[in-house]
Amino acid sequence: MGVALRARRHEWADLPPELIAAVADRTGPIVRVDSTSAGYSSQLAATLDTASGRVFVKGMRTDHADRWTQDVEAAIGPYLAPLAPRVLWRVVADGWDLIGFEHIAGRGADYGPASADLPLAVEGITAIGRLARPGIRLRTARARWGRYLDDPSDAAAFAGDTVVHSDMNPSNMLLTGANTVRMVDWPWVTRGAAWIDAACWVVWLVYSGHPPHAAEQWAARVPGWAGADPDAIDLFAVAQTRYWQATVDAHTNRMTMALRTAASRWALHRGMWP
Ligand SMILES: Nc1ncnc2c1ncn2[C@@H]1O[C@H](COP(=O)(O)OP(=O)(O)OP(=O)(O)O)[C@@H](O)[C@H]1O
Ligand SMILES: [Mg+2]
Repeated sequence: MGVALRARRHEWADLPPELIAAVADRTGPIVRVDSTSAGYSSQLAATLDTASGRVFVKGMRTDHADRWTQDVEAAIGPYLAPLAPRVLWRVVADGWDLIGFEHIAGRGADYGPASADLPLAVEGITAIGRLARPGIRLRTARARWGRYLDDPSDAAAFAGDTVVHSDMNPSNMLLTGANTVRMVDWPWVTRGAAWIDAACWVVWLVYSGHPPHAAEQWAARVPGWAGADPDAIDLFAVAQTRYWQATVDAHTNRMTMALRTAASRWALHRGMWP
């Protein structure tokens, strides 16, 4: 989720020629390739200029432990338009699993306290909360974050029927020239309470320099926040702190440490001792 090591990324030019030919069968001739610098989880991320237009490609080797993320992105894609880029094709061949997405010309959001992007970020999170329930099974918020609570059954407070993106990394929120917001990177899509994405956002806002009370004021602009039981948010702040602690344990770096600190600061602000 945006916090692993960069070393896993492969270059387009190193792909097997048969695989590149299979992609060109879908896109027409590939004129130019740009490797993407943002993002870390995928083994391959590139923008192709092709005879049929620009395509963003995310790829993983078929033997990768996180290959399931490709299945989720391909399955959820059709339910996310126009908020997310359209899934154009998937090619599984020669040891690789590639998904071609509509290319979005945009930049990642800036969540800093003085940023003019914050109202658009609110719009994006609001739009996620308005998505119709997809016709596929999603993992549940209860299962996902209950494991971080002293009593996992308390995670009943996280349950709901709203589509939750859950990875509020600002690089997953692309702002376009037309001042619209598009959400990318959906492998962690979850079904849960309407306030959860706003709550996940609080951690990123604190990480980005907002004190917790100011971060919550931004989160409160997302309509789903209003229906939240304060006790549920208290528990979620604890679950987020422990989730980020687990991420630190798996990948210790400045970013994970700072996100863990941000989450615990939020939990303390809410009177919890995570
Ligand atoms: N459809 C798209 N069009 C243009 N750029 C995109 C598109 N999808 C993703 N990107 C860019 O590529 C980056 C990496 O994509 P994405 O976040 O989906 O992959 P990832 O490798 O799983 O990333 P991470 O795990 O680090 O969040 C995004 O942060 C965004 O900058
Ligand atoms: Mg990402």
